[in-house]
Amino acid sequence: MADEPKVKTPLEPAGDDVLSGHTYDGIQEYDNPTPRWWELLFVGSILFSPLYILWFHAPAQNRTLADQYEASLAANLRLQFGELGDVQADEPTLVRFMNEPEWLKVGASTFAVNCASCHGKDAAGISGPNLTDDYYIHVKDITDIAKVLREGAKNGAMPAWENRLHPTELILTAAYVASLRGQNLEGRYAEKGNEIPPWPGTAAGAEAPAEPSAVDANPAEAPAAQAAAG
Ligand code: HEC
Repeated sequence: MADEPKVKTPLEPAGDDVLSGHTYDGIQEYDNPTPRWWELLFVGSILFSPLYILWFHAPAQNRTLADQYEASLAANLRLQFGELGDVQADEPTLVRFMNEPEWLKVGASTFAVNCASCHGKDAAGISGPNLTDDYYIHVKDITDIAKVLREGAKNGAMPAWENRLHPTELILTAAYVASLRGQNLEGRYAEKGNEIPPWPGTAAGAEAPAEPSAVDANPAEAPAAQAAAG
């Protein structure tokens, strides 16, 4: 009796537990389903994930923390519009803002919120034309950008922004659009328009920064180019 070999006896199901019948290496498995709360959490997180992706990462939504930061930074800058005073949508003003990264950020943020849905986050064009190449439908010189923004085009296919944007914001957005030129991104909008001469002050025409936001561009070259041109 004392030296009775210790044999592994099959487990007796304890209480309500049921054996699954699955054995591995002599280890038996209870048929313990995961708790209901765990399953609900699991299914819930799967159902939640597409909503999360759509909300935060769908193109042109601008809801990520980084986007929100840029937006509030720009909102703060908008408060400083007063400091700019009355600005005119003329050539020297647009060229000046094209080369001021801080103000370009305001234009970039306005573009991301109001324009990217049609022109694309990178401005390469979707239902609105590509704004990164040398071809334009309604624009012959830099001031025409502000004009198109104010009045719209093609019976509202391009909306008029005169009553929706602060006049200064509209000019800063026009300057931002001008700064996008020269990246020559591949666009999806069929109509291309006509090739137009370079903006004043950008002798080579295509000296626009590689970054769509243009905020990291080195503005040092621009004044030099301006000086050379003027
Ligand atoms: C509802 C879609 C839509 C929105 C939003 C929109 N655009 Fe447009 N935009 C268009 C279309 C379409 C055209 C081209 C009209 C045409 O083919 O005549 C256009 C044309 C333009 C042009 C002239 C391009 C050229 O080749 O002459 C500029 C500049 C422009 N948009 C800038 C903007 C800016 C800046 C914003 C945001 C403030 C904006 N657009 C918002 C649809 C849009």
